[in-house]
Amino acid sequence: MPNKAFITGVTGQDGAYLSQLLLNKGYEVYGLVRRLSTPNYWRLEELGIRDKVCILEGDMTDSHSVNSIVKSIRPLEVYNLAAQSFVATSWQQPVLTTEVNALGTLNVLNAVKLYSPEARFYQASTSEMYGNSNINNTQDEHTPLHPRSPYAISKLAAHWFTINYRESFGMFACSGILFNHESPLRGIEFVTRKITDGVARIKCGLSDHIALGNLDAKRDWGFAGDYVEAMWLMLQQEQPDDFVISTGINHSIRDFLDAAFSAVGISNWEPYIRQDPRFMRPAELHELCGKNSKAQEKLGWRPKVAFDELVRMMVEADLKRIEKESTAKTRYEPSLVAGH
Ligand code: NAP
Ligand code: GDD
Repeated sequence: MPNKAFITGVTGQDGAYLSQLLLNKGYEVYGLVRRLSTPNYWRLEELGIRDKVCILEGDMTDSHSVNSIVKSIRPLEVYNLAAQSFVATSWQQPVLTTEVNALGTLNVLNAVKLYSPEARFYQASTSEMYGNSNINNTQDEHTPLHPRSPYAISKLAAHWFTINYRESFGMFACSGILFNHESPLRGIEFVTRKITDGVARIKCGLSDHIALGNLDAKRDWGFAGDYVEAMWLMLQQEQPDDFVISTGINHSIRDFLDAAFSAVGISNWEPYIRQDPRFMRPAELHELCGKNSKAQEKLGWRPKVAFDELVRMMVEADLKRIEKESTAKTRYEPSLVAGH
């Protein structure tokens, strides 16, 4: 019998790469998808797996749908990836962010506890939980947590619910504290993809600038395809545990601009950048840099794709999309929304 995995957030960046990984390992993959007026399957389609994932309609905030799904499939592995994941939006929609990220996680944990108690559970926790807290400019599993956005606070609640269900009910529940991970499938509102899409448009003569906020923040950026392997590895261990997943190297937004513009042969990017206060945050995280030694030791995991390779991969994918768009004469992704 193939192993059954249930993924919430299956249409997102990580959900798509994780589905691909699990399908390649012979799993049956079931994904929770919320009803939208326009279905959002572009990532699963780009990976060529849209028809291989079994889509089940429900919503993180609707315990009835979550319970029915878990009861009907009785998965052995549950990956809880669904979230309102954009930090900037969390100040505008703090209640929704908390309902989806914190209470939604509680809905999934309760459904597993009631209807599939043997299942192993993965929670998508985040380096945002650290805020500006660090030890010698790095963060690991022991660094104090000090969230600085409604998003980070909602994720901190979900993180502790996961640990609490492990300690209270003996569930095999793990929390992956993942640092930023990117890919050609990244949402266009996140700074990396906003830059690579903008650079590709500038290169093709379709735009003359990119509007950005704080260029000095530093993030530890890895490749999403590498990070979903770590999620799977966490659920294959003898004991449930929590792990930092990161590259251990950070870069500023300026470094990302250097790499992205140089991928299209532009060495001086300053004339193409406009700083726009709409993209500044009420409370910023200045520097994230994860220490991944526990994951290296216990999971045998290490990142494979380096920063320059990641940036180049994203720029090349956006150049290809623009070529395709100009042939089809339509843009198939939403344009940028103010504040994103
Ligand atoms: P993403 O691309 O924004 O995907 C989020 C997914 O959640 C989408 O499938 C979305 O569905 C779904 N979703 C949102 N609200 C929902 C609801 N009410 N009911 C059901 N599904 C809902 O995020 P990602 O980058 O793949 O990240 C995956 C997870 O890891 C998230 O929990 C994120 O917070 C966490 N994380 C990400 C990073 C990172 O750098 N990427 C780092 C640390 C932690 P639609 O397609 O319908 O919008
Ligand atoms: N999005 C965006 N847009 N960010 C900008 C911009 C802009 O125009 N200009 C500068 N930035 C800066 C932000 O202020 C932040 O310091 C940094 O770029 C990264 O922003 P995002 O790419 O939006 O990601 P994030 O770090 O806030 O959050 C991502 O990583 C977290 C893990 O640390 C998301 O994937 C979260 O879901 C995830 O938990």
